[in-house]
Amino acid sequence: MLKDVLIISGSPKKEGNTSLLVGWFAEGAKSAGANVEIIRAADLEHKVMGCTSCRACQKSSSYRCVINDAVSDCVARFSSADVIVMATPLYFFGASSQLKCIIDRMFSLYKWDNAANTMETPLKGKTFVFLGSGFEDAGFEAFESPFRLTAEYSGMFYKSLVIKNAGISGDIIKLPDVRLKAIELGKEVV
Ligand SMILES: Cc1cc2nc3c(=O)[nH]c(=O)nc-3n(C[C@H](O)[C@H](O)[C@H](O)COP(=O)(O)O)c2cc1C
Repeated sequence: MLKDVLIISGSPKKEGNTSLLVGWFAEGAKSAGANVEIIRAADLEHKVMGCTSCRACQKSSSYRCVINDAVSDCVARFSSADVIVMATPLYFFGASSQLKCIIDRMFSLYKWDNAANTMETPLKGKTFVFLGSGFEDAGFEAFESPFRLTAEYSGMFYKSLVIKNAGISGDIIKLPDVRLKAIELGKEVV
């Protein structure tokens, strides 16, 4: 069956290292027959910055954030994808703020019952892919850990391609093998 791949591209740069990684990954996934949708985090309309911790999503049975904006639509879309990809440049040892604002709204994709010590999420069983790059080669464990841990917590299969010494926006094209690795990963996960 045709796999549905949703890519959240977290760089504010339209033509940079992240967009190149995303493009190559998407090329691989499409060549393997997947349906691929790319959402640029920086283009989404936000009514609030990140999650407000209102907890209204925990009182509803819907896996949708109650704040009606484009981020809510984006996060609700995770439920129907087979493969969720998050791509971001390394900004001060973490994800870009554009991507983090979407990640925190994922609170609506979990239903916790603290008394019963249970958690339900439609993310379980999906594949999660992290695509990251940074200028230097320091702090990459701190960069990647939140993505790996979130995937594990959610019961998702985890894959990643993290590029150190990627240079400034667009320089990643000069690194040998990165394009092929990204294309191969795109093929592999679908
Ligand atoms: C605000 C900002 C913070 C950054 N912080 C780091 C950092 O802590 N470590 C690092 O290696 N690179 C850092 N970089 C460099 C980018 O992570 C790197 O050039 C990335 O590949 C750029 O991707 P892009 O072209 O998609 O924006 C930073 C860049 C910016 C603009």
